[in-house]
Amino acid sequence: MEQRTNSPYPKIDRPILAAIGLLLVVSTVLFAWSDRRHDWRYYQFEFKKRVAEKYGAEKAHTVPVGLDQIWAGDLRRADRCVVCHQATLWKGFETAEHPYRTHPPEPLKAHPIQKFGCTACHGGQGFAVDADKAHGPTPFWEEPVLSGSLGEAYSLAENKKALMQMNCNVCHRYDRETKGAEAINRAKNLVLEKGCRACHVINGRGGTIGPDLTFVGDKAAEQYDMTRLSGQKTSFAWHVAHLKDPKALVPETVMPNFSFGTKDSQALAMLVMSWRKAPVPADFRPGTPRTDPQTPEEVIEEQKMKTGPGAWFVKTGCFVCHSVSSLGVKSAAQIGPDLALAVEDTQSRFGRTVDDFFMNPTGTMAVVLSRQIILSPEEKKVAIEKLREAFREHQKQKASQASATSATSANAPKH
Ligand code: HEC
Ligand code: HEC
Ligand code: HEC
Ligand code: HEC
Ligand code: HEC
Repeated sequence: MEQRTNSPYPKIDRPILAAIGLLLVVSTVLFAWSDRRHDWRYYQFEFKKRVAEKYGAEKAHTVPVGLDQIWAGDLRRADRCVVCHQATLWKGFETAEHPYRTHPPEPLKAHPIQKFGCTACHGGQGFAVDADKAHGPTPFWEEPVLSGSLGEAYSLAENKKALMQMNCNVCHRYDRETKGAEAINRAKNLVLEKGCRACHVINGRGGTIGPDLTFVGDKAAEQYDMTRLSGQKTSFAWHVAHLKDPKALVPETVMPNFSFGTKDSQALAMLVMSWRKAPVPADFRPGTPRTDPQTPEEVIEEQKMKTGPGAWFVKTGCFVCHSVSSLGVKSAAQIGPDLALAVEDTQSRFGRTVDDFFMNPTGTMAVVLSRQIILSPEEKKVAIEKLREAFREHQKQKASQASATSATSANAPKH
């Protein structure tokens, strides 16, 4: 009690009071800062002012006032982004800050906003008129604006704004290449080059060893086992980690480790996540036919191999993963070893004869022969005979090569 006569508060409380004072100052600053995101009316007022300054009061009267929206009826999207992003189609605000900035004109040439709205490309909650809700991420809303800031948060390797390309490819999935979606293009090339279709159906074509990926982008994050994943627990992070090293997340998987770097894994993750059953009408999806066919060159190459000495390996489907070099069979993906050497190789690799390995396979071949290429015991015997034939042919070629070289070395001038 004595103490309080000098000061209204006990001494001991002073540091606490100081702390509370500081907290108030900090929270005021924070509040002012967070309030930089204003109400839509503020942005409309501000934009009108900017138009007046630049083009005069008369022009400023043409700036719409109130809750505006674009109804992209065919896409069933009502987008109110323009309530704040009023400058979208105005010229002369190319360097203003958002939301007063003119939209880059290029993407809107083939996709006029009256028909496409905004969210089909950008994502976000079209109906919201509050910036946080419109941009997301918000609870119960799975589609945030795929902005540069989100790309930053996802640690994109190169172009931070590339995430939007996932949305481009919801419509452009049947294109082999889409201008402006470079990460997706890169990933599409990898899918062809690495032969993902050896094990996965994509757009109706491919193998059955792995799951059908045609609509894998619709899977919810909750459907992924995140326990082995370190860092962010998002579907995107899961796919990136899984593509880098499938066994690290799914120990029993037979999906190969393709040694993808960060950039390639991220591009592939975006591509995989863009494979969605989108409510987009057919005429919004360019690129026909829609079955993602082989190129004419691929068809010719396959036809040639189908009639050559290695025809059995082509018709049976082994060539999807294996070359058989001695019989002129060339696999595009080369996921498994060259079968010309199998007779010898199963001995050194597994310590088993090719007969034994093929009758009781392990690893990838166990999955292949139980899920994708089902052979009767008789057909398996044929397979083994074909493998022996490929090896005999291999030895014959090696011998003739050796004699050719020894012939040339015999003819070579003596030292
Ligand atoms: C209430 C006003 C408001 C609404 C509604 C709104 N925005 Fe914005 N938007 C802003 C402001 C302010 C910024 C700049 C500051 C920021 O990034 O928050 C911005 C920035 C952006 C950016 C750039 C973000 C970045 O990280 O570079 C994109 C893209 C964007 N908005 C898209 C949209 C889309 C798509 C919609 C509709 C779903 C939308 N906005 C609705 C106010 C709004
Ligand atoms: C055809 C797809 C498409 C449509 C439709 C579209 N945009 Fe864009 N938008 C883009 C592309 C592409 C960019 C450029 C991104 C970049 O710089 O890499 C962009 C850029 C932007 C930016 C600047 C983002 C940044 O990171 O600087 C904003 C804001 C924006 N758009 C808002 C809108 C609004 C609002 C609408 C609807 C009125 C809309 N967009 C419609 C494709 C689209
Ligand atoms: C809602 C579906 C949809 C979305 C989303 C979409 N597009 Fe398109 N895009 C189309 C349609 C439809 C056309 C017109 C095709 C035609 O005329 O044959 C088109 C045309 C194009 C063209 C011109 C193609 C040509 O042959 O002239 C390019 C390039 C393109 N889009 C790139 C993109 C990019 C990049 C994005 C993402 C920023 C994107 N698109 C988002 C549907 C979409
Ligand atoms: C030898 C067969 C094989 C090849 C080749 C292969 N995968 Fe897989 N993949 C699998 C199997 C089996 C699974 C299921 C177990 C797992 O998740 O790893 C799988 C799972 C996946 C998943 C997760 C599916 C889901 O339900 O979310 C994706 C995505 C995927 N693969 C993409 C690819 C891509 C992209 C390629 C080509 C670069 C590829 N795979 C090549 C066998 C393969
Ligand atoms: C989806 C890809 C795939 C298909 C289709 C496939 N294989 Fe394989 N195969 C592999 C892989 C990968 C290996 C390497 C062993 C491993 O990783 O488990 C392998 C190994 C083998 C081996 C052991 C080779 C060695 O050198 O040790 C033989 C033999 C074999 N496969 C035969 C066949 C035959 C015959 C067919 C067609 C009936 C076939 N494979 C179809 C992926 C495939």
